[in-house]
Amino acid sequence: MNNKTLTLLKPDDWHLHVRSGEALKSVIGASARQMGRAIIMPNLNPPVTNSMQANAYRDEILSALPAKSELTPLMVLYLTDTTTPEIITQAHSADVVAAKLYPAGATTNSTRGVTDIQNIYTVLEAMQKIGMPLLVHGEVTRSEVDIFDREAVFIDEVLSQVVQDFPELKIVFEHITTKNAVEFVYESSKQIAATITPQHLLNNRNDMLVGGIKPHTYCLPVLKRAEHQYALIEAATSGNAKFFLGTDSAPHAKHDKESACGCAGVFSAPHAIELYAQAFDQAGAIDKLEGFASKFGADFYTLPHNTSTLTLIKQDWVVPKRYEFANGIIVPFMAGQTLNWTLV
Ligand code: NCD
Ligand code: ZN
Repeated sequence: MNNKTLTLLKPDDWHLHVRSGEALKSVIGASARQMGRAIIMPNLNPPVTNSMQANAYRDEILSALPAKSELTPLMVLYLTDTTTPEIITQAHSADVVAAKLYPAGATTNSTRGVTDIQNIYTVLEAMQKIGMPLLVHGEVTRSEVDIFDREAVFIDEVLSQVVQDFPELKIVFEHITTKNAVEFVYESSKQIAATITPQHLLNNRNDMLVGGIKPHTYCLPVLKRAEHQYALIEAATSGNAKFFLGTDSAPHAKHDKESACGCAGVFSAPHAIELYAQAFDQAGAIDKLEGFASKFGADFYTLPHNTSTLTLIKQDWVVPKRYEFANGIIVPFMAGQTLNWTLV
């Protein structure tokens, strides 16, 4: 490797929202251009709660892929208060790779989520038994808990207990945003891993709030203080295999973000790998990108590494101000800003 080009095994996105219908058709090609596989988040409206729906959604994604592009969607079940162990074992037989815990009310399309972790204890037992990973949106939702503390409180009140009660359960703590989460993952067993988004590596809450509200940086869990950003950068660039790529690219139309009550979600699919390259290079750790982007996630899910490669060159380019999206437009993360690495 010289300092001008970087060839990586093709990365995978271990946390991606692609929606359905016209929205799906407009965003799926962007991920297919960069990623070998993607964990497809199930928070559609209505959510993907059984294997039949997961199969139908997989088919819809495959037929929405542009000609000649390849992306393997890895399907995930959305857990509700009424998910049963039978639903889990059926999904497992239908190649659904994981199930996602959305605490009810925590984020976009989470109203059908779990209202009390005890309601899914038999489900977690079944998942532990068959080796199906639990993906976690780690925030409590009680109104009295400050939004900036919701992840840390979730660790103390929910996740620590789950890890104790199900020591063999594989868990991905999704889109972690705090030093507390980094420490928790470091200190937990090898069953516990985490995804980290580009926005949480490149931004902190000042980027969202100083000089005016920037709705296109607003996502959940919300950006935190700089000290948390630095802890995430350290974890991502550490070479520790517990931390891997998950963009949480979450498309919402421009008018839904630039609104009196703006949607949560950052759209990063078109330039995901360039964004991560920017963050790793700024940290002086571009050599650690391949493990994070292309190996550690597959290892955690016990899947083979991709065999094809992609190449980045160190060359400035400007992120487009907008892309077409369904019947409107969408503003990508860091729109109009310069990135230093370009995908060839
Ligand atoms: C996601 C979405 O829009 O679906 N939004 C977000 O802010 N991250 C949901 C999620 O992952 O929380
Ligand atoms: Zn997400």
